[in-house]
Amino acid sequence: MSRKFLQIIGASLLLSLSISSLYAQKKKLAQKVDSILHLMTLEEKIGQLNQYNDDQAATGPVTQDNDKIGQIKRGQVGSLLNCVGVARTRSWQKVAMQSRLKIPLLFGQDVIHGYKTTFPIPLGEASSWDLDAIESSARVAATEASASGLHWTFAPMVDIARDPRWGRVMEGAGEDPYLGSLIAAARVKGFQGNRLGDLNSMMACVKHFAAYGAAIGGRDYNSVDMSDRLLWEVYLPPFKAALDAGAVTFMNSFNDLNGVPATGNAYLQRTILKGKWGFKGFVVSDWGSIGEMINHGNVKDGYEAALSAITGGSDMDMESRNYKNSLAKLVADKKVPIALIDDAVRRILLKKFELGLFDDPFKYCNEEREKAALNNPEHTRIARSVAAKSIVLLKNENNILPLSKNTKTIAFIGPLVKALKQNKGFWDVEVPGVDSEHIVSQWQGLKNKIGATTNLLYAKGCEIEGDDKSGFGEAIAIAKQSDVVVLSIGERRDMTGEAKSRSNIGIPGVQEDLLKELLATGKPVVVLINTGRPLVFNYTADHATAILYTWWLGSEAGNAIADVLFGDVNPSAKLPMSFPVSVGQIPIYYSHFSTGRPATDDKNRIYNSSYNDLSIFPKYEFGYGKSYTSFEYSKLQLSKKKIKQTETIEVSVTIANTGKYDGDEVVQLYLRDRVGSIVRPVQELKDFKKTSLKAGESKVIQFKIDKQKLSFYNQLLNWVAEPGDFDIMIGSSSRDIRVKDSFELIN
Ligand code: GLC
Repeated sequence: MSRKFLQIIGASLLLSLSISSLYAQKKKLAQKVDSILHLMTLEEKIGQLNQYNDDQAATGPVTQDNDKIGQIKRGQVGSLLNCVGVARTRSWQKVAMQSRLKIPLLFGQDVIHGYKTTFPIPLGEASSWDLDAIESSARVAATEASASGLHWTFAPMVDIARDPRWGRVMEGAGEDPYLGSLIAAARVKGFQGNRLGDLNSMMACVKHFAAYGAAIGGRDYNSVDMSDRLLWEVYLPPFKAALDAGAVTFMNSFNDLNGVPATGNAYLQRTILKGKWGFKGFVVSDWGSIGEMINHGNVKDGYEAALSAITGGSDMDMESRNYKNSLAKLVADKKVPIALIDDAVRRILLKKFELGLFDDPFKYCNEEREKAALNNPEHTRIARSVAAKSIVLLKNENNILPLSKNTKTIAFIGPLVKALKQNKGFWDVEVPGVDSEHIVSQWQGLKNKIGATTNLLYAKGCEIEGDDKSGFGEAIAIAKQSDVVVLSIGERRDMTGEAKSRSNIGIPGVQEDLLKELLATGKPVVVLINTGRPLVFNYTADHATAILYTWWLGSEAGNAIADVLFGDVNPSAKLPMSFPVSVGQIPIYYSHFSTGRPATDDKNRIYNSSYNDLSIFPKYEFGYGKSYTSFEYSKLQLSKKKIKQTETIEVSVTIANTGKYDGDEVVQLYLRDRVGSIVRPVQELKDFKKTSLKAGESKVIQFKIDKQKLSFYNQLLNWVAEPGDFDIMIGSSSRDIRVKDSFELIN
């Protein structure tokens, strides 16, 4: 027998052995779960479905509960959230070990973009379009958080969002399901690592299931109403991608979807998630969302809320206490079969086994490991790199950036120059006993960067909010002494996030007035915009000399900003959301339909779907971001101009760095299906490649187009690719298309 043949035999034997051993492991775990389940009373089973907030912090409306210790001792609690640090988690786990069956507690936390080492807010990270960087960020977060006693993060948030009035846009990956799906998967892999149960891994929790980002009016917690087709085409893909990446828990959402609150929505949680998708993990409700079904007017009381939630597929009750208060009675009243309770308990116990908590409930409680993980310089290095990759260069008049390190005098002005915690953004974790101020301010970042010959002047100029201009004089005075002004303005970090919807998304206070005064000195002004969302800032956009959109960058904010300002990092980020000219344009997104009277960008907007007073096009489009260098696209080639459903097209395009700086370019590939049984968007992102090019270097970038990229959900919700003509557009943003061609899909 040939060597090759033996190798194939060997490989297939190995594969079948590993599959069977995996199956054997799963079977063994299931037996262990059942062995515990059979010992449990109904009250203890319900206890596993009950999650309380620890009293260290609160991320929702708190219900006072003075008997947590007693309830844990009686096995009436399965999990705690907002309980961090080895010392604290150990103390609670010790209480759980006093219960009859010694079932360990799960500790969950919103580790959204870093634990002690913090990273850019997720929408900022998404701007990097760098999946490896995003995964490494989640990996660091999991390494630190799991070393600090945590088993579970309530992340990634994968809600597609097209309305920047909604404050939670900061937590997601923007408006596009293709980009959002890849980022969702990267974050799950980062958090969960190679294997659940490894010491530096933690359970991911994909949220908020589902369509929370489509809240009407951009108002948090508001209703969502959409066709199932839109749900499947735009809002579900990132959840499926996260599940396919191995996510083991989901969190449902506060909103009703088409009139049915997600928490009790069996179509979402049973038909789709646990049915069609075969999800074997568990679903945790969002904070109090079970009880909130009463406010929705969907159920009469807590008893009905618990009934709706458990039958709707919610396994664990975060903080509402309705499972604890009503499930036993629902079973006694034969409204809820014990099988439903057992299924939820099994799902939760299985995760506790997989984490290794039954073997050692204190497995994640090691002070030495915690200390080492929370003081790891490699984490800081990664944070600085990811932060720099997240900064979007929106404008660079006269190529004023990068600044020379020999600039004689820089006036660094603005209310965020010396801010510390602001840089952490909305979701940060107060890590007990750890100096959470180990943040590099923007001021410190520039101080670290400039040489001895540069004079760095400072003035606050004004507050973030309010109309006090008394600080303008000092700011103008130092501006006049400078060669260049760097102005750091924006929001407070708590102005964008949960329950932070805004009807006016302009730059608050008198900050743009300050810019106007500084520009009047005749000095060039580089503006840093610090925020969690796309803002409306037309004056700044039209008049500033240069603009860097810095989001909230985390621990290494100052160093990352300095790296970009002085050119040690050439900005390569691209916007993951459309930036409106006016709130009146919202919802605004690039992958819109054509309509029967397509909007135009010119002035004669009559009888078409433009506004009479404004074009429909954004200030800055999806995929937009500048570089210190320039890139040229050429030689677009398609291997075929006609393909069958089973064939693929090899696409190649040459990208040249025609500037004087090395740089990264996000080469974006968009398609348009010209005719469909459901009208198709004028553009859809279907692939991208982030590629590094030295000054003067050129590369051939390749893509593959297959049926998957041509498919969509038709009226019957079948995923189909319909024969017809397609346009292919490749460029540096959704509106900066550099090369294009077309091809035909035939039967
Ligand atoms: C909050 C958020 C959710 C978070 C949870 C726990 O209300 O909606 O994203 O994970 O409560 O903090």
